Amino acid sequence: MTGSINRQWILAARPAGMVGPEHFTLREKPVPAPGQGEVLVRTRLLSLDPANRAWMSPAPTYRAPVMPGDVMHGFALGEVVQSNAPDVSVGDLVEGMLGWQDYAVMKATEVARRDARYRPEALMGVLGITGLTAYYGLREVGRPKPGETVLVSAAAGAVGSFAGQIAKIEGCRVVGTAGGPEKCAWLTQELGFDAAIDYKSADLRAALKDACPRGIDIYFDNTGGAVLQAALFQMNTGGRIVCCGNLSQYNAEKPGPGPMGVPGLLVVKRLRMEGFIVMDYFATRPQAEATLAKWVEEGRLKAQEDIVEGLENAPAALAGMFAGRNRGKLLVRVA
Ligand SMILES: NC(=O)c1ccc[n+]([C@@H]2O[C@H](COP(=O)([O-])OP(=O)(O)OC[C@H]3O[C@@H](n4cnc5c(N)ncnc54)[C@H](OP(=O)(O)O)[C@@H]3O)[C@@H](O)[C@H]2O)c1
Repeated sequence: MTGSINRQWILAARPAGMVGPEHFTLREKPVPAPGQGEVLVRTRLLSLDPANRAWMSPAPTYRAPVMPGDVMHGFALGEVVQSNAPDVSVGDLVEGMLGWQDYAVMKATEVARRDARYRPEALMGVLGITGLTAYYGLREVGRPKPGETVLVSAAAGAVGSFAGQIAKIEGCRVVGTAGGPEKCAWLTQELGFDAAIDYKSADLRAALKDACPRGIDIYFDNTGGAVLQAALFQMNTGGRIVCCGNLSQYNAEKPGPGPMGVPGLLVVKRLRMEGFIVMDYFATRPQAEATLAKWVEEGRLKAQEDIVEGLENAPAALAGMFAGRNRGKLLVRVA
């Protein structure tokens, strides 16, 4: 790799509100060489995730924040091009926190080998963190029963589109919220949702009442904010709120007010509101991936990826995600 260039997106400044390309700078460095026990990985597909924005804030999340001047953190799939580790071979397809760059030197223990029989896009979407988040969040935290009503927010996004389809597979009635009539039509016409609500234009409380005449048993919450607030009042006794993420707040300059009805409605309706991180369930990852792959093969789970070409477009694509431009799993094809 001597002589090749490694393009890297650097965090230039922490955003105070909405993230944009102005918060990053592109730097070129020589491709680094791996040391003993390390591998050099060429990035193929970079995952863009709402959590990227959370990592740009100074407060730690479930991982340490990115520091200004650092290569932007990012989860990615890549190919091993040099290996000084006995268990990893050149040509292996691996995933890990490669960062927003063409090449990364990683300890062999920091990457996980992936099954090259599958499409790389699927490995980063339905068979990766995204699909697993929907799978575990719904099944382990939500614990659906056939006939129950499941509400999913950010339902036309990556996790949401899978969570809704898995709820259908579990025999539930499924309602999604998404921004705009096109996304809503896609949910009902292509993905089999029973109803969809454009949260940007609807009177949410009234629309939820209408779309969930028997109330909501499980709310798969990707957003917090207004949808959570409206859902709380429609929850059935014994309902579960799966706290998956907080999209409405990642770009907020100040934390928004907590929802009305907490804890009162939780008490009266005996609701369980539970957060989770997908890695909590990784002990059973091979079985979960096999189930997801089977559903895809049987045509019961549709995997939608939204691919942006070129590492140079990553910052604009991340901003676009918060403007609702993606449908399904947002990825950047780097090589
Ligand atoms: N707990 C875990 O282990 C775990 C793992 C992975 C992801 N997550 C969480 O899962 C959620 C979904 O992530 P994803 O990767 O699937 O992203 P995504 O849904 O594909 O992308 C974000 C979508 O959210 C919507 N959105 C953007 N800003 C919003 C706002 N202010 N209010 C409401 N909706 C907004 C947009 O769609 P519209 O056009 O519909 O607005 C956008 O397309 C996130 O909260 C993420 O942090 C959690």
